[in-house]
Amino acid sequence: MVGQTVLVTGATSGIGLATAERFVAAGARVVLLGRRGDRLAEFTRKLGDRAHALVLDVRDHVRVASALAALPDAFRAIDVLVNNAGLALGLSSLETIDFEDCTQMIETNCAAVLAMNRAVLPGMRARDRGHIIHMGSIASHVAYPGGNVYCATKAFVHQLSQSMKADLAGTGVRVTCIEPGMVETEFSEVRFSGDKTKAASVYRGMKPLTPADIAEAVFWCCTLPAHVNVNLIELMPTAQGFGPTIVKRVDG
Ligand SMILES: NC(=O)c1ccc[n+]([C@@H]2O[C@H](COP(=O)([O-])OP(=O)(O)OC[C@H]3O[C@@H](n4cnc5c(N)ncnc54)[C@H](OP(=O)(O)O)[C@@H]3O)[C@@H](O)[C@H]2O)c1
Repeated sequence: MVGQTVLVTGATSGIGLATAERFVAAGARVVLLGRRGDRLAEFTRKLGDRAHALVLDVRDHVRVASALAALPDAFRAIDVLVNNAGLALGLSSLETIDFEDCTQMIETNCAAVLAMNRAVLPGMRARDRGHIIHMGSIASHVAYPGGNVYCATKAFVHQLSQSMKADLAGTGVRVTCIEPGMVETEFSEVRFSGDKTKAASVYRGMKPLTPADIAEAVFWCCTLPAHVNVNLIELMPTAQGFGPTIVKRVDG
């Protein structure tokens, strides 16, 4: 990956941070994007000259294009875009869910991905090479109670990946969707509004995937020869199954 430029959204924690670290370790230049500038400053300082912080809310699609166009020369021609920023808010059923939460999930997990892709694709097409990675989820096809809007956003990501692959066939631009199961990050803390105890209970008594496990899968897809496109990777902890609702019985 020496000489390549990678942009990772949602690089202030979890999967995004681990992915940024993996690519920097392999010699790439990496733009770490997120809203929490203090964290980005700390991580880019640790990662060194090949890391660049971009403080940005991906939902601000007007600023997305101008912020990417204003990146320093060495970081502007993006070879790999990792669309990782995303979140789930709450576990309410649809009639009680906070509508603002719905909007935030849709804007972050779906609309922002479109804006990021639209900003980098012209350059990738002009150079006839590039790789777009989407961080999907098994939630794209494994529904669970209260998952409603989050699951639907990840179904969007899954189908967008497939459709973009179809659009870009014959160009040098690859598209990959990574669909993890349970990964221990700040994801559950965000979902439960900062309740660390509730978040920790999600991973109680089992060994979840780590952000580094996902970063390795992302990295592997990017190291394959240019004619090889990994369309989809689904990965889960060994301890995870499908569910949790197999049958709801009237007697409980
Ligand atoms: N953890 C899991 O079990 C799991 C499973 C399947 C898929 N995923 C997916 O993996 C991706 C990464 O999640 P994670 O588990 O690593 O969670 P995380 O630790 O909470 O990280 C989420 C990242 O997204 C960023 N982000 C959220 N909203 C943003 C916005 N509007 N603008 C810019 N950045 C934003 C956050 O940065 P700031 O808050 O600093 O902006 C943070 O860096 C998500 O797309 C998630 O859906 C996670």
